[in-house]
Amino acid sequence: MTHSQQQFLRCLGEHGLAPVLIDHSARFFALVRYLLRTARDAAFIPNSPDGELSFWTHLALYHDIGKAAVPEAILRKPGSLTPPERALIQSHAAAGGELVRSSAGLWALPEARILCDICRHHHERWDGSGYPDGLRGEELSPLVQLIGMADAYDALVTPRCYRPAIPHERAACMLLRGDCGAFSPALRAIFAGHQAEFQTEVFGKTSASA
Ligand SMILES: [Fe+2]
Repeated sequence: MTHSQQQFLRCLGEHGLAPVLIDHSARFFALVRYLLRTARDAAFIPNSPDGELSFWTHLALYHDIGKAAVPEAILRKPGSLTPPERALIQSHAAAGGELVRSSAGLWALPEARILCDICRHHHERWDGSGYPDGLRGEELSPLVQLIGMADAYDALVTPRCYRPAIPHERAACMLLRGDCGAFSPALRAIFAGHQAEFQTEVFGKTSASA
């Protein structure tokens, strides 16, 4: 990681920005780190040094900072959401991007563009069905696509107040068949082709109990 990238991460705290990982776990970090390395080997993302991947992994932890503005009672609501509640939750993506953009001290730094992209677009999908901008295909950066996939997978294997954790094998099936929205064929192939290593890396062993 370059000195400038380390400084940027320090700046986030100074601007009051901290990772929001409600119902996520430290597993998300391992998940993004592994997917990034695999995606680099598959040339899905540019060939970048480990330090760069480490920086992006740290940035990924901030993808949901916009949720800080959503009442926790709604984020953790056990029943189904009303349309206004769903809209409020979905607003976290645009709100996160705005948080970065409106921090003048941060926005002056080049790294802020990457973080803004992650926060605003991690719920966009390859087929244009995501939000907030309905971006599709190559309009989405490979990094954002990858973080979106890691986020969707981690949400499945994390217990929720309305359901238990979904085991890896079933979660992987759901992800690949599009239950969490469409991902690019190249990214799906990366995920599908490395499942054994993925389980070992992310869960520490094969995850019959994950
Ligand atoms: Fe999100």
